[in-house]
Amino acid sequence: MPRTQVNKYPCPYCPYEAWSEKDLEDHKRFAHGDTGQDQGEDKSEPQEVSPQPEPPKAVEVTPPTEEVSPQVETAKLEKPEGEAELPPGIFVPSPQPDFWVSERVARELYIIGKLSDKGEAVNVKVLGPSGVGKTSLGWEFAASFKRPCFEVHWGMYQEPSEVWGKDRLSMETGTYYEQARYVDALQLPKCVIILDEPNRCHPEVLNTNFALWDWRRAAWVPDLRKMIRVAPGVVFFACMNEGAEYIGTNPMDKAIRERFGRTIRLTWPPMRVETKILLKRTGVDKETAEKLAKFARDVRRNPKVGCAPSTRQLLVAAQDVVEGLPIQEAVMYAIINDLDENTDRQALLQHLQIIGSVDEAFVEGREEEDDGDST
Ligand SMILES: Nc1ncnc2c1ncn2[C@@H]1O[C@H](COP(=O)(O)OP(=O)(O)OP(=O)(O)O)[C@@H](O)[C@H]1O
Ligand SMILES: [Mg+2]
Repeated sequence: MPRTQVNKYPCPYCPYEAWSEKDLEDHKRFAHGDTGQDQGEDKSEPQEVSPQPEPPKAVEVTPPTEEVSPQVETAKLEKPEGEAELPPGIFVPSPQPDFWVSERVARELYIIGKLSDKGEAVNVKVLGPSGVGKTSLGWEFAASFKRPCFEVHWGMYQEPSEVWGKDRLSMETGTYYEQARYVDALQLPKCVIILDEPNRCHPEVLNTNFALWDWRRAAWVPDLRKMIRVAPGVVFFACMNEGAEYIGTNPMDKAIRERFGRTIRLTWPPMRVETKILLKRTGVDKETAEKLAKFARDVRRNPKVGCAPSTRQLLVAAQDVVEGLPIQEAVMYAIINDLDENTDRQALLQHLQIIGSVDEAFVEGREEEDDGDST
C-alpha cells in the first residue's frame, strides 16, 4: 500500500517543520515576528516575539502635547476597535515594541497557543529574577494571539473567600456582593489569565483554586453558590520570583507547582538586543544604551558581584539620562542605591568603569564628602 505523502514546511529561521502553509505562516509570525510584509527588514534577529500591528486609533488621537513616559506609552492597553464587548478589566493588549524572548521560549509559546486554540486549558509557570519580563510575557502572549487578558495579583488577598468576590457598600442600595472579575476571566474562552506572584499569598488562598488548575477544570464555589468551569482554551501564566532574597514569598506547595506543568525560565536578553530595547523604548543615545547594556551583561556574568541589574533598572537609568542626568548618576539612582549588603562593591567597581570614571564613594552610594572648607 502506498504511504501517504507528508508535506513538511521547514521554517527558514529555526528547525521547526510546519505541517501546512498556514501553520508555517503562524509560526513565522509568532516565533520570529515575520509578518511576510516587511521584506526589507533585517531578518538576522528572529527573536522578537510578535509583529507590531498598526497602533489602535485610540492611541493615534492622543494629543501630541501630552507628555507620557515611553514605558507607559508603549504599553498601549486600549481595547482595539471592533473587539467584542469584554467586561471591564479584561482586554486584548497591544504588543510592546521590542519585547524579546529567546527562540526556544517563542517556540514553546507557539505550542501553548496551538493547544489553547484546540480548546485545551494550559497552565504555565514563569520563573526568573526580578525585572526579567515574567509578567510581561503573559501580556505579550495575549497580544500576539489577540486574546483577552486579565491579571490577578495574589499578594493582595488576605482571605480565601476574596478570590471569588467581596461585600461592598452602596449609598443607594446598601450592602451587596460583588463577584470578582477573575470569575469572569475563568469563564471567558481563550482568556489569558496572568496569576502574578501566587507565592506571595497565604497557601490557603491558593487552595481555593486547586480543582480549577488541574484536570477537573471546575469547582463548586460555595460563596457564589455555583459551579465554576474553566472555559476552553484558557491559558494560565503563573509568574513568580523564587529564592531566599525574595522576602514575602512562600515556598510553593508541590501540589500547586505540579499543576503548572510547563515551566518557562526567563533569562536576560543578549546585550545587542537589550541595547535596542533601551534605544527604542527611551530614545536614549546609542552610546549610553550600549554602555548600560554592556555594564549589565558583564555584572550578570560575574558571580562574584552578587547582583544582576534588570532590564527594568536599565530602562529607568536610560530614562533619567534622556531627561538630562549624567549616566553615572542615573546608574546610581536606578541600581547602586538599591544594592544590598551581599553585593561585592569592589568587584562592581571595575565594571562601573564602563559607564565612566567612578570611585569607591560612588559604588558605596555615599555622597561626595563636603568638609565645609569652601565657606
Ligand atoms: N525581555 C524583555 N524584552 C523587553 N522588555 C523587557 C524584557 N524583560 C523585561 N522588560 C521590561 O522590563 C520591565 C519589567 O518587566 P516585568 O514587570 O514583566 O518583569 P518581572 O520579571 O515580572 O519582574 P518582577 O519579578 O519584579 O515582577 C518592563 O518594562 C518590561 O517591558
Ligand atoms: Mg512581575
